[in-house]
Order: sequence, then C-alpha cells, then structure tokens
Amino acid sequence: MADIWQDAMDHAVAIARRAGDVVREALLDDRMVMTKTSSVDLVTQTDQKVEKLIMQSVKDKFPTHRLIGEESVAAGEACDLSDAPTWIIDPIDGTTNFVHAFPFVAVSIGFSVNKQIEFGVVYSCLEDKMFTARRGKGAFCNGNVLQVSDQEDIRQSIIATEFGSSREPEAVNNIFSSLRSILCIPVHGVRTAGSAAINMCLVASGCVEAYYEIGIHVWDVAAASLIVSEAGGVLMDVDGGSVDLMSRRIVAANSRAIAERITEEIRSFSPPRDDAP
Ligand code: IPD
Repeated sequence: MADIWQDAMDHAVAIARRAGDVVREALLDDRMVMTKTSSVDLVTQTDQKVEKLIMQSVKDKFPTHRLIGEESVAAGEACDLSDAPTWIIDPIDGTTNFVHAFPFVAVSIGFSVNKQIEFGVVYSCLEDKMFTARRGKGAFCNGNVLQVSDQEDIRQSIIATEFGSSREPEAVNNIFSSLRSILCIPVHGVRTAGSAAINMCLVASGCVEAYYEIGIHVWDVAAASLIVSEAGGVLMDVDGGSVDLMSRRIVAANSRAIAERITEEIRSFSPPRDDAP
C-alpha cells in the first residue's frame, strides 16, 4: 500500500537540504546575533530566514497542514499541537554553535498526525549527515540503517546532555546536581554536542548510550524522537513515565535499563510547558 506521507517526507528532506545550503552560506558572513529569553538564548537572522523558507515551501505544497516553528513561537504564535497534520520545525538547532561556527548545527523537521510523529528529518548540515525516520520503517543516516548501542551497563556508557540557556542559580544547581550524580555512577564520559537533535541522533547512531535534558522545546526533539525510537531506542520522561513532547523534559536512551538508571539520578523540575496558554 502506498505511504500517504511519503510525498511530505520527500519534501521535508529536500527542504532540509536547501535550508542546510543557506546555513552553510551564512557561515561565510558575519552573523548578527540577537537574544531571546536571556542573554545566552541566541537567535540570528539566518534562523528566521531558514524558518520562513521552510514554512513558505510547506504552505505552498501542503496548504492545509499546520505549522509550529521555533521563531514563529518566539514571535508570539501559539504552540498548539492538534490532531491535524503538523510540521514541527527548528530551523537551526544549535544556534549557539552556529554563532561560533562550532560544527554541530541541524535543521530539524518533525511531522505529526493525531499527535504521533509520522516522520522525522534532522539534517546535520556542517557534517552533511541526513538523518531520517518514518514510523514503522526504521531510521537512517545518509541511507544507512541506524541502530542504537547494545550496551546495557551504564558504567560502560557515554551520556549526552546540555546546560541549557538559563543561568538562574537554582536552574544551574539542578543541572549540576544531576550531572554530578550521573558522572559519579561512574559513567565512561559525559558529552554535550550543543544541539538536542544531534545528541539524539548520536543515541540513534550508537555513539552515546543516552541523552537527557530539561528545558528543551518540542521543535528541538520532535523529529529526533522518532529517529531514536526507530533505531531501537526508548524515550522517557525524566521522572520515568511516558515522554510528553510538550513538557520540555526528555530522556532518550538505547535501552529501558539505561533510561531508568538515568531517571534515578536526575533532579527533576518542570519548566513552563510549550503549550502553556
Ligand atoms: C537548543 C539546543 C541546545 C539545548 C537547548 C535547545 P536551539 O536549541 O538544542 O543544545 O540545550 O535546550 O533549546 O535554540 O539552538 O534551537
């Protein structure tokens, strides 16, 4: 039977590649940096330009589909995920990396129907790696099948996380408290790529066993969540229940055992939800 979302997925891959060209070209110029919620929450004209490019192309080809985009939400649009076909877009995941030309920068496009991710596309544009997943059909990088690591012992693992964009003492204390507990399990190492989507693609690729973060947004993780699960990984809330993509909390791991072990060490808190009125 024909896949009813194949055309949309092909379009997502093509537009992610075009967006990647824009990102790479922009790296050759001066990048004008602006701030959003704090002095370390950065945005550039390229984030806005790439989001417009992706959104316009989706509107032209799929006029009835809905859109959620990081920069549109920052500009005041609602972040409501309904049952309708919805594109969830992060034009540049890893904006701070982009500003500093640190080479992990991704275009992330997730597609949800009935609040379930049907396909995910993450283009790590400086590495030229196209990560894709279609629900029920596996995950791939540049056409090669992805499979999570089979390591079930967290002591033999690398764990990825991020420091986020809050520098409030309480938030920083929470982050360091969790990090200290996890590091001292002990694990082989902790890494931060600077992009939630790329961290999750590293889980899907089997390079790190898990990634966790509190403070991410739905556009950072929508596409990569399917890439992880289609590569055989698991997604969990930081308190151990099912993941809720609007809750801004996530553990993505190669196995339930490692995900659960991480949730035991995280000092959890609840940032305002993405869909909060
Ligand atoms: C951010 C990155 C970062 C993560 C933040 C995200 P952005 O996304 O993924 O690694 O720590 O939570 O918001 O702002 O670069 O799209």
